Amino acid sequence: MRQGDTVLADQRSTDTYEQTFAVRFSYPVVFTNALFSTENTVLTDTLCRIEPNKRHKCIIFLDDGLLADDPGLIDRIADYVAAHGNRMQLVCPPVRVPGGERIKVDLHFIEQMQQTLYEHHVDRHSYVIGIGGGAVLDAVGLVAATTHRGIRHIRVPTTVLAQNDSGVGVKNGVNLNGVKNFVGTFAPPFAVLNDLDFITRLPDRDKIAGMAEAVKVALIRDRAFFEWLERQSDQLVLFEPAAMAHMIRRCAELHMIQIGQGGDPFETGSARPLDFGHWAAHRLETLTRYHLRHGEAVAIGIALDTRYSVLSGLLPEGAEERVIVLLEQLGFRLWHPALDKTDAQGRHMVITGLEEFQEHLGGMLTITLLSDLGIGIEVNEMDHDLILQAIDWLKQRAQS
Ligand SMILES: NC(=O)c1ccc[n+]([C@@H]2O[C@H](COP(=O)([O-])OP(=O)(O)OC[C@H]3O[C@@H](n4cnc5c(N)ncnc54)[C@H](O)[C@@H]3O)[C@@H](O)[C@H]2O)c1
Ligand SMILES: [Zn+2]
Repeated sequence: MRQGDTVLADQRSTDTYEQTFAVRFSYPVVFTNALFSTENTVLTDTLCRIEPNKRHKCIIFLDDGLLADDPGLIDRIADYVAAHGNRMQLVCPPVRVPGGERIKVDLHFIEQMQQTLYEHHVDRHSYVIGIGGGAVLDAVGLVAATTHRGIRHIRVPTTVLAQNDSGVGVKNGVNLNGVKNFVGTFAPPFAVLNDLDFITRLPDRDKIAGMAEAVKVALIRDRAFFEWLERQSDQLVLFEPAAMAHMIRRCAELHMIQIGQGGDPFETGSARPLDFGHWAAHRLETLTRYHLRHGEAVAIGIALDTRYSVLSGLLPEGAEERVIVLLEQLGFRLWHPALDKTDAQGRHMVITGLEEFQEHLGGMLTITLLSDLGIGIEVNEMDHDLILQAIDWLKQRAQS
């Protein structure tokens, strides 16, 4: 039909217009140090990327766990904003929000942040800046994506995991009814500013947890990186700064390549290579009521799926030993009693997580396993007996 034709009401005919357009996304992921030192212009240059001659309105949401370890951050931010007052202004002092999974388990925090944006007239050309761990960034990202249907969002990740994985990606979300990331969107950020100095203040437990994602992405995409992790494990376990910096950068880069060039940034298909080890991990996180950190659960999930890969004949016997040894050397414990939990029908509760995982992702069950170190392979079913054997194997190892 030509434009302008009169459409006659005709119940028997159907007209279909194919609406097609593409939106190009592009955002910088910057690695820097001392982001809020007054000489560092990374933040103000980022704010001025699209509109250089403007004083930009910003609001900052700050992870309270980070603040507890770095109380001087509030003053550094205030000094920074004062020094760059011609390019930016804060609509209110930085707003503290609960750090860790706490912020993701109660939708009330989302509403509270949206209310703050409303009260301070934050518009779609203003900036919502989230500073914190992956959980805070997931929650703030959701707020930015859904308020006014999308406000420019700058992420400042402050944990290893957020800098090398979650912060550089395109997803946000919070949990509902014990289901991870049940409420969320795909929304690329305006920019990601990684300040490696934040990592030095992080508790050892969180420094270790974030390394699981590096092992994960190395195992599915980059054998050379896996072997680098093996060689550097002595340095990494001591959190040697140069080794940590390289680990974070390479891991972030591999995630970005997968998202940007993998052909499915908004995960409309069934394959989720970056979710290797995650079907069990998400279940373990909820089964332990988030007592296990995401990265700690992922390490167990990787160990489980690597052993499963061997048991199902995909991965040569012995390869799993290298993976387990690396994870243990980095400081992970690869057994948790939640792996043994059963429900009233006697079913292993971790295994029921497979159904939940499929329901969350939609489509055919697609699980990434390994056919070699550095090569992921997708399968569409998992044998429950082999999963139980893999769980048992991890238990025996932990007891020996
Ligand atoms: N959106 C994604 O693509 C994606 C990907 C992977 C993981 N995630 C999510 O990320 C979350 C895990 O993130 P995480 O591992 O960063 O942990 P986290 O956000 O739970 O933070 C862990 C703890 O560290 C504190 N903290 C943060 N920065 C600190 C610092 N520099 N110094 C001291 N303490 C600090 C926090 O307050 C919290 O108590 C999970 O909810 C997971 O589902 C999201
Ligand atoms: Zn993860």
